[in-house]
Amino acid sequence: MKAKLTLHKEFSIGEVDKRIYGSFIEHLGRAVYRGIYEPNHPEADELGFRKDVIKLVKEMNVPFVRYPGGNFVSGYNWEDGVGPLDKRPVKMDLAWMTLEPNKIGTNEFAEWAKKAETDVMMALNLGTRGPDEARNFLEYCNFPKGTYWSDLRRSHGVEHPHNFKLWCLGNEMDGPWQIGHKTADEYGRVAAETAKVMKWTDPSIELVACGSSYMRMPTFGKWEETVLDHTYEHVDYLSLHIYFANHENDTPNFLARSLEMDNFIKTVTSICDYVKAKQHSKKQINLSFDEWNVWFHSRNQDEEIEKWIESPPRLEDIYTMEDALAVGTMLITLLKNADRVKIACLAQLVNVIAPIMTEPNGKAWRQSIFYPFMHASQYGRGTVLRCPVSCDTYDSLEYTDVPYLETVAVHNEENDEVTIFAVNRNLNEDMELEADLCGFEDYKLAEHVTIHNKDLKAVNSAAGEKVYPEAQSGGRLDGTKFQTRLPAASWNVLRFVKK
Ligand code: AHR
Repeated sequence: MKAKLTLHKEFSIGEVDKRIYGSFIEHLGRAVYRGIYEPNHPEADELGFRKDVIKLVKEMNVPFVRYPGGNFVSGYNWEDGVGPLDKRPVKMDLAWMTLEPNKIGTNEFAEWAKKAETDVMMALNLGTRGPDEARNFLEYCNFPKGTYWSDLRRSHGVEHPHNFKLWCLGNEMDGPWQIGHKTADEYGRVAAETAKVMKWTDPSIELVACGSSYMRMPTFGKWEETVLDHTYEHVDYLSLHIYFANHENDTPNFLARSLEMDNFIKTVTSICDYVKAKQHSKKQINLSFDEWNVWFHSRNQDEEIEKWIESPPRLEDIYTMEDALAVGTMLITLLKNADRVKIACLAQLVNVIAPIMTEPNGKAWRQSIFYPFMHASQYGRGTVLRCPVSCDTYDSLEYTDVPYLETVAVHNEENDEVTIFAVNRNLNEDMELEADLCGFEDYKLAEHVTIHNKDLKAVNSAAGEKVYPEAQSGGRLDGTKFQTRLPAASWNVLRFVKK
C-alpha cells in the first residue's frame, strides 16, 4: 500500500498549546490512594507519595493535571480535605459508591503536583453546591492573606497561595448519572453566576464550562448552545469528553473512531461560533477536551466491586497494542485541531484507565498507551502544519472513507525540528510513505521510531513490555523528498532536524 503526504513550512493550522498534554487524577479506584499515594511503599517519600510514579509522570511531560474529578467532584466538599488529618471525615462517595478517607486533599495534591513538575487544573462541585462554596474555595486557594479563607489556608501550613489558574465549572452536568445533574438552563445559570463571583475573586483565572459528556448524548448540540447562551461572556472554554471502546472486537472500526472525535471538535467549534454571532461578541470560546481515552476493558469486572470500601481497583483497563494505535489517532486529531483545542486531558493518569499502573507494594509500569502520549508530548510542540494526504480509504461498520494513513506534522522552530506523527491503520499491509517536506531543504532524518506488534492484543505488565518504541531504519531523505515504510498497524514518529 502506498501513501503520499505534502507539508509546507508556511502552511500552518496553529500553535500547539502545551496544555493539550494535560492529564487527570480523580479520587476514584486506586488513582490517589494506592496509586500516587502509598505511604508504606518502599519508594514513598516523606509525604507518602510514590517516587517511582512521579518519575514516570515526569517522563510523560504533563503540563497540568485535572483534579479531583470527574464524577467524584459533584459530591465533594473541599473543606473535608483540608486542615488537620485527624479531624478529616470519612465520607460516602456516591459517584463511585466507595468510602473517601480525605487523607489527600487540595494542599497535599498541590504538593504532589510540584514534585511531579506539573500544575493543577481544579474542578469545582456544581452538582450539590454553587457560587458561594466556589468563591470561598478560590479565596482559600489563590488569595494571598488577610481574609477568612486565605488565613485558614495559612493556618493549615500553606503560606503562599496556590494560584491555580484553570478551573472547571463542574463535571459532565448533562449526564443523568451525575450527582446534581441539571438541565442546560439550570446548569447555564449556575455556571454563569459562579463564573462571575470567581472572576471577581481572582480575575487572572480561566474557566471551563461543561459541554456534553459525549457526542451521542441526546441533548448534544442544544446543550452547548444553551449553556453558552448563559455563560458566553463569563467563561473561556467549553469542555468535551470522549472514550473509545471496541466491544465488538472490530479493530478497523475502532481505529476509525478518531473521525468521530474530529467531527465532535468541529461541531462544538461551530456551536461556539454560532453563539458568538448571536451575541455579537468579539470573544472566541476555545475547547477543553478534558477527558479522552480508551475505556471499556474493565467495564464488566467493575460491576462486581464491593460497595463502601476504600480505593478498590476500578476502571483498571489493561491496554493493548491496538489501544495504543487508537490513542495515537486521538493525539493526531487533537493536534490537527490545535487552532481551537487549547486544553486536553488524557483520562486518567495512574491506575484508573491510565498509562501508568502500580502494583501495591511493588512496581510502577508503563501501559502501551504511555508511549504515543510521551512521544506527542515530547515532540509535538510548536506549529502544527497542514498535511494533505493521498492514500486508499476503507469503510467500516460505522464510518466511511477512513484513510489508512492518519498523520500530522509539527514544526518546532526553537529546536529547528519537524516531526511527523503517523498511524498506519492498515492491519495487514505495510505502507510505502512518500512525503514532500517543502521548505525544509537542509534537514536530515534524526530518527524513525515505531510501535508495532503483530499481536494487536499484546499488552504490557509489571513483568515486562510487549508494546514499546523501537528504532526503524530504511528512511531516505533526498532534498525534501522522503521515503520510508510504515509497518502494518503501527504508530510512527519521524523526526527531522536541521543539518
Ligand atoms: O474518567 C472516568 C469518569 O468518566 C469521570 O469521572 C467522568 O467525568 C467520566 O464519565
